[in-house]
Amino acid sequence: MFTKLTQLPPDPILGLSVKFKADINANKIDLGAGIYKDENGNTPVLSCVKTAEKFRLENEKSKAYLGSAGSALFNEKMTSLMLGDHKVISENRIRTVSTPGGTGALRTAGEFIKSCTPGATIWVSNPTWANHQGVFAAAGLTVKTYPYYDYENKTLDFEGMLEALKQVSKDDAVLLHACCHNPSGMDLNAEQWQQVADVAKHVGFMPVVDMAYQGFGQDLDADAFGLRLMADTVEQMIICSSCSKNFGLYRERIGACSIIGKSSIAAEIINSVLLSVVRVNYSMPPAHGAAIVETILSSAELTTQWHGELKEMRDRINGMRQLLVDQLAVNGVTRDFSFITTQNGMFSFLGIDKEQVQRLQDEYSIYIVGSSRISLAGISPDNVNYLTQSIAKVL
Ligand code: LMR
Repeated sequence: MFTKLTQLPPDPILGLSVKFKADINANKIDLGAGIYKDENGNTPVLSCVKTAEKFRLENEKSKAYLGSAGSALFNEKMTSLMLGDHKVISENRIRTVSTPGGTGALRTAGEFIKSCTPGATIWVSNPTWANHQGVFAAAGLTVKTYPYYDYENKTLDFEGMLEALKQVSKDDAVLLHACCHNPSGMDLNAEQWQQVADVAKHVGFMPVVDMAYQGFGQDLDADAFGLRLMADTVEQMIICSSCSKNFGLYRERIGACSIIGKSSIAAEIINSVLLSVVRVNYSMPPAHGAAIVETILSSAELTTQWHGELKEMRDRINGMRQLLVDQLAVNGVTRDFSFITTQNGMFSFLGIDKEQVQRLQDEYSIYIVGSSRISLAGISPDNVNYLTQSIAKVL
């Protein structure tokens, strides 16, 4: 059976991390995977997470199964974090399950959509996170794209997006990034969110909102603005979220898949299908990450500490956006890179070609995804000069 297999290329994002680790150049810079790094290039365990882990170590009483939905407390806290005091909660119309990371949430959402409409199509932005297409295709959905980023003008192709969404069938799903669009860093503004929500309501397609970076754009509430507006406007939607970035829990694999139904009765039916989707997939989610998050969000003190640590990460990345643009100019680059300072979250496209991306890797040990997506979190005051000099050379 295995002799029929052929070698596949490494993952476009995770494969870079492997190459980076193996590189012995002391000046190497990792701008590949979306992982927060501090000024020293480390991805620290947040202090609030350490405290919560200590608490769990001392107080956890059992490792017995939790069931396919995972921890009820985590699910409740995550729902509030995403939706605030939204009416879908008081109306008992939302059901949330804990998932193995944001990817697990997306795969669960894909399987759920397939249960509703076998052969459904999901529309994703062009471009989108490199794994979106694979996850949804693996769940058995047809994946199509709608215009999103205007590469030439380094901005949003909002007209193209809206026109395409108006043509989507009511039986289709549409994936939207809640904030910090991965890979472009270009987000919808409030007015644009309203227009997209109105189209979703008018056409009747299923919005699937992916929120992997809540707190990395402006702040926790502002980053959930579009998602909440969508929930105000349509009766049914799916939300996939992740605690990888904002709680720094990458390897613990914890996220959530939330589904809003038209009524509390509809939500109960949705829940039964959701649980069966999970049961045949991974049975039940890992608990450790959820336990950390619910411990933090159940304590006013730890929550305040978390807000502070999240702000520190966000401010550092935004500072690097400005520093990168300034240093490029200092090193003689005349091309306008100011768009980088207007974008959000961990990523932006540098806007250089594949050959230049490859030269940065081969000649300077600077690792960037082939699309020229950079993770701003990999930049520091110590490496920005080497980075911008190298970019100047390949330009
Ligand atoms: C990224 O986009 O770099 C991150 O979400 C990490 C991943 O799993 O691809």
